[in-house]
Amino acid sequence: MKIMVVGGGGREHAIIKKLKENKAITEIFALPGNGGMKDDATLVNIGAKDIESQVEFAKANKIDYAVVAPDDPLVLGAVDALTTAGIPCFGPNKAAAIIEGSKVFSKNLMKKYGIPTAEYEVFNDLHKALEYLETAPIPTVIKADGLALGKGVIIAETREDAKSAVRSMMEDKVFGDSGSNVVIEEFLEGPEVSVLSFTDGNTVVPMVSSMDHKRALDGDKGLNTGGMGTVAPNPYYTKEIAQECMDKIFIPTINAMKNENRSFKGCLYFGLMITKNGPKVIEYNCRFGDPETQVVLPLLESDLLTIMKATTDGTLKDVQVKFSNGAAACVVMASNGYPQKYQSGYKIKIADEIQDKVYVAGAKLEDGILKTAGGRVLGVTATADNLKDALKNAYENVNKVTFDNAFYRKDIGKKAMEVLK
Ligand code: AMP
Ligand code: GLY
Repeated sequence: MKIMVVGGGGREHAIIKKLKENKAITEIFALPGNGGMKDDATLVNIGAKDIESQVEFAKANKIDYAVVAPDDPLVLGAVDALTTAGIPCFGPNKAAAIIEGSKVFSKNLMKKYGIPTAEYEVFNDLHKALEYLETAPIPTVIKADGLALGKGVIIAETREDAKSAVRSMMEDKVFGDSGSNVVIEEFLEGPEVSVLSFTDGNTVVPMVSSMDHKRALDGDKGLNTGGMGTVAPNPYYTKEIAQECMDKIFIPTINAMKNENRSFKGCLYFGLMITKNGPKVIEYNCRFGDPETQVVLPLLESDLLTIMKATTDGTLKDVQVKFSNGAAACVVMASNGYPQKYQSGYKIKIADEIQDKVYVAGAKLEDGILKTAGGRVLGVTATADNLKDALKNAYENVNKVTFDNAFYRKDIGKKAMEVLK
């Protein structure tokens, strides 16, 4: 069986490594993948947003199943195009991917169906937004409506910061059309939990919970990043909270999407905050999280391809989705300076014995040598019976990877360990 995976980061590497456990798969193509995946997939030089070429490639190579991992192609309709061409596909169609593609859509959906989330107002007029900010409670949260490379959310601690955020989105268009509409919402407090789920539009199966570490520096200091490390499971996500999320958030969201004729198939990611008034949705993503996937999939004991196909076929209720009772930790190694300016092109050395625990993201092959080529270069994951050992192993493995200018957080999992004590 021939599989193609669209995307090229650590998340895609984790998906590919997990898929490979299925021996019926004869070849996996990564479009475009990255040089660090060369032993796990055939790299194809087609960009994640080049949907036309993806369809052509899939047809020409008789691909049996495609996995579209990143947000951009999903929101642009890659699944629709592949499905129309007769290629069965993992991921939501364009109509459903809007749950991540438009924050205005997702906020209005939650309001309409009574799904707990922060209070909010939507603005398409700069002056009205500025006027509202004169009296809005501070801190406040400003969100660009559309996709903004994970940078479209600003937590404003002062009225002036809030106004300048709105101006930069609506007037200076720093996120292009993504900022034509803005959501201004209530600032919530509490621990954050990521829950990825498999869904076929009717059944929703949550995966093991996880905790991202979004800030660049130790102690949750520094700028927001795509994620500097993850642990799973997330100790804040108790059985009681999981049940509450299932009843008040997960099932209502799947049903709401169905009711809107936007039935969601694929992986729906719930970004949650456990507030003192219960769990609330911070954001939906229409895809696997990165680097959440690097801790969630290593704990999956069932066959990933079987589950993925069941989401496409609408038979998810009939398949087993089993996770190990252990724990996983992922430490992201980045280029010093990320998420701002950094230098690339440094040789990466990964010890042989940990190759299968490393998920490569920002790297490229040059004359057969793997070199850094991005902000988040790779993630080092370890699993164990408990989080303490998983963290210890992950950090030991970090010492077996070297490249110039490497930089990583030393405190991934620290907060989680404090909760477990
Ligand atoms: P997002 O891109 O929507 O995941 O937002 C990025 C981060 O901003 C989240 O992970 C939260 O830490 C924070 N955030 C987003 N919305 C809120 C909110 N309403 N209150 C507090 N923090 C928020
Ligand atoms: N780690 C957060 C995300 O994938 O959006």
